[in-house]
Amino acid sequence: MKRYLLIILILLTGCIKNMDRNPGKKMVIGFSQCTMIDEWRKAMVEDMKREITFYRDLNIELIVKDAGDDNDKQIADINELVSKGIDLLIVSPNEAEPLTPTVERVFSGGIPVIVVDRKINSTKYTAFIGADNLSIGKEAGYFAEELLKGKGKVLEITGLKGSTPAKERSLGFHEIVDKLPNISTIKAIEGAWLESKTLELTDSLFRVFNDFNLIFAHNDFMANAASKSARKYNLKPYIIGVDGMNTPTGGVSMVINGFIDGTVFYPSGGDKAIQLTIQILTGKPYEKNIDLSTYRIDNTNARTLWLQGQQLNDQQDKIDKQSDQLNIMSDILQKRRTLLLLTYTTIILLILIVSLILRSWKHKNKMNKILDEKNKTIIKQNEIITKQRDDSLDLLIVAEEARENKLRLFTDLSHELRTVVTLIINPIRDILNLVNDESVRKKILVLQRSTERLARLTDGILKFRSIENNKYHLTFFSGNIAQFITNIIETFHEQADKKDIRLNSEIENEIYAEFDLGVIEKVMYNLLSNAIKFSNRSGVITVSLKSENSKIVITVKDSGIGIPKNELPFIFNRFYKINNQKYTSENENIGLGLALSKELIQLHGGKIAVESTENRGTSFTISIPQFHNKPDSEINNKTNQITDFSIDFSGKTDKSKTILVVEDNTDLLLVITDILGKYYNIISANNGKEGLDIAIRKLPDLILSDILMPVMDGMKMCIKIKENPLTYHMPVILLTAIDSEENMIKGFDIGADAYITKPFNEYLLLSNIKSLLESREKMQQFFCPSPYFRELLQTKDMAEGAFIKDCLNHIYENLVNENYTLENLSKNMNMSRSSLYRKILEVTKLRPVDFIKKAKLNYAAKLILSNDTWNINEISWRSGFSDAKYFSKCFYHEFGINPSQFSKDYLKTKSVPFNN
Ligand code: FRU
Repeated sequence: MKRYLLIILILLTGCIKNMDRNPGKKMVIGFSQCTMIDEWRKAMVEDMKREITFYRDLNIELIVKDAGDDNDKQIADINELVSKGIDLLIVSPNEAEPLTPTVERVFSGGIPVIVVDRKINSTKYTAFIGADNLSIGKEAGYFAEELLKGKGKVLEITGLKGSTPAKERSLGFHEIVDKLPNISTIKAIEGAWLESKTLELTDSLFRVFNDFNLIFAHNDFMANAASKSARKYNLKPYIIGVDGMNTPTGGVSMVINGFIDGTVFYPSGGDKAIQLTIQILTGKPYEKNIDLSTYRIDNTNARTLWLQGQQLNDQQDKIDKQSDQLNIMSDILQKRRTLLLLTYTTIILLILIVSLILRSWKHKNKMNKILDEKNKTIIKQNEIITKQRDDSLDLLIVAEEARENKLRLFTDLSHELRTVVTLIINPIRDILNLVNDESVRKKILVLQRSTERLARLTDGILKFRSIENNKYHLTFFSGNIAQFITNIIETFHEQADKKDIRLNSEIENEIYAEFDLGVIEKVMYNLLSNAIKFSNRSGVITVSLKSENSKIVITVKDSGIGIPKNELPFIFNRFYKINNQKYTSENENIGLGLALSKELIQLHGGKIAVESTENRGTSFTISIPQFHNKPDSEINNKTNQITDFSIDFSGKTDKSKTILVVEDNTDLLLVITDILGKYYNIISANNGKEGLDIAIRKLPDLILSDILMPVMDGMKMCIKIKENPLTYHMPVILLTAIDSEENMIKGFDIGADAYITKPFNEYLLLSNIKSLLESREKMQQFFCPSPYFRELLQTKDMAEGAFIKDCLNHIYENLVNENYTLENLSKNMNMSRSSLYRKILEVTKLRPVDFIKKAKLNYAAKLILSNDTWNINEISWRSGFSDAKYFSKCFYHEFGINPSQFSKDYLKTKSVPFNN
């Protein structure tokens, strides 16, 4: 920037320098004029001014002072001029003597002085210009001699006595006439150069005195006065004047008019004074005394001179006009120079602005490039993050599926075990009744207890599964919980007595609450039996119950062996085994009991806590809400049976789901149809080809297919199903008699969702189908939470489905652009705006603006489901809504649930909180 300014300054200085046509210092000339009363003096000043115009390039200033025939005034004028700082003084002194010291002082002070016309009594001046007045006097003498023809009387009218021209003209005149014997000067009067003064003198003199033949006046003004007086008194003397100005009232005209007989030309020398000034001030050589030429004017040459004068005047007029023209041109030139300067300045400023714009444009481009690079990096990072998220999501799904499979297997085994245990328990009871031998009975009793324990363990596992699958339904009973707990304690007295344990109860008679009988009973049994189990002989167990801050608080405290402090945090874990000799000695551990109690109490909206000190005892405290905000209809007033926890398909008939069974064996097809037909809508096919056709036409919810079949086997059909975009989402279960691991791997490779070997377990088959259908539904909801879009994407028209998917993809890719409109979408879709509008309206029955909004909300729901760490602000921002409030409003309008509640519900249940 500094560099630019410097360049501009240099350029501007150059311009200004070029504009200045008057280089160098200004010349100030002071001119002290003794008087300006007469034309001769005025003409002298005019001559000076005119001459100056010929030196435009020198920047000359002329200051003129008029002393008005006053010596003192002239001295003051000169001093004033000097104080103004003049470079040169021109002076025409009024009288020599009074002015000499002043002129000398100026000269001695270093200011050049040009004396014009009249002299001083010193040579201390720079130069003198003027005609030789002695010669003028002589010429007048010769002229008088000629006019008088050598005989006559002369009257002399002199100029101001103290002025040198008066002295010298008189001297020169007398030098000639005094030599002539017949010519005498009879009188001399002092006219002091003035016509008025002279007229007064001659008027009064001529009235009384006329004895003279010739008058010699030292200038034409005085000669004119004498002529007037002579004519007044009818006298006809010869009259000679000096000056000979060629003007209408000057000496030349006076001669032509016959007022005077002649005059001697006396030039003012104004022009010469300026020329000399310039020579002096510019250091050029000059002459110190310049003699101006003079000549006689009489009736022989006056007319010629007049005419020449006229011509000269014409020339002068022309010169003046040209000078005026020159002045005008000069003004124009000056204006043009100013304009040029302005133009230069503007051009330079423009250059500056353009270069600044260019610089900022370059800078902007550079910044844009940097931003682009950053953007690219961010996009890459985003892609990596998205991929990582997708990968982790996949892993999560895989892990969830694996866990699900494991648990399912576990549950299945438990079911099997329970059936087996039930089969064992009954015969044991019968055998016990038949056997009398005490030692055998004891052994059978051990068998019975172990079997019962096994039954409890399997029961516990099944209950856990019920809780996990949200199938454990609480049934609230409204009643006297104090009484209920007291009854339970009663049943433990016998057991306590056996170990000599005192079982105290600190319970009021009546405390009412809403509670699930089964839950409370199971938990109390668990806690009391643990307390007895881990109490020493003669110990104390205290059960207390109170109502506190709308909560029921039950405490079971024993004076038993206690739980080691480091083990306490883990005792509610499933199958946690305490590392303590005292526990293992009886070959017991906490097992499932406490873990199940905790789950049940949590399900009941309560908490369970433990405090324990080793060798001092343990205290369990349960706290549950006293009342639940449930409608009365959901609260029972009489004891209900606790729900059976077995997996029951009877209540889960879903005839809306269609299963395609592909089986070439008609008997087996019948058996399968029989099993599945109770729960689902069944369609069948006899081979893979037929199965594929039906799958495409009927779009079943699941396909169960044998592998070995004629025409097209199950594997091939499965590949085709998974290749077809219309059917690839359908879960496929392969069913085969070949129980080989290799076949199973092959089956999963080609995309089969499950693999079941024949002869199959009916329960396993049903459970597989159910779980696949459920997880499929969850997946669908997960990837498209909005029921609207699920329906739309499941459209039977493949092209329409693909169109909607394309639209959604573009909208999701541009979510950061809050102003993403139909315009942008139409560009992305490579369609015209109007045809995209019509298409969206036709397929979705929505205006594009509403469609885009719906898509964003669907994305938001997906985000909530895929990430539970983002808050609503982030979700709204990531879904293309800048205002979280507006987003929540739209979300509620779309799904009938607030986004925050939606996310809470999802986290709690891990199932999509809204359904069709
Ligand atoms: C003008 C004038 C002239 C004369 C000159 C002498 O003031 O009187 O007429 O020639 O001065 O200095």
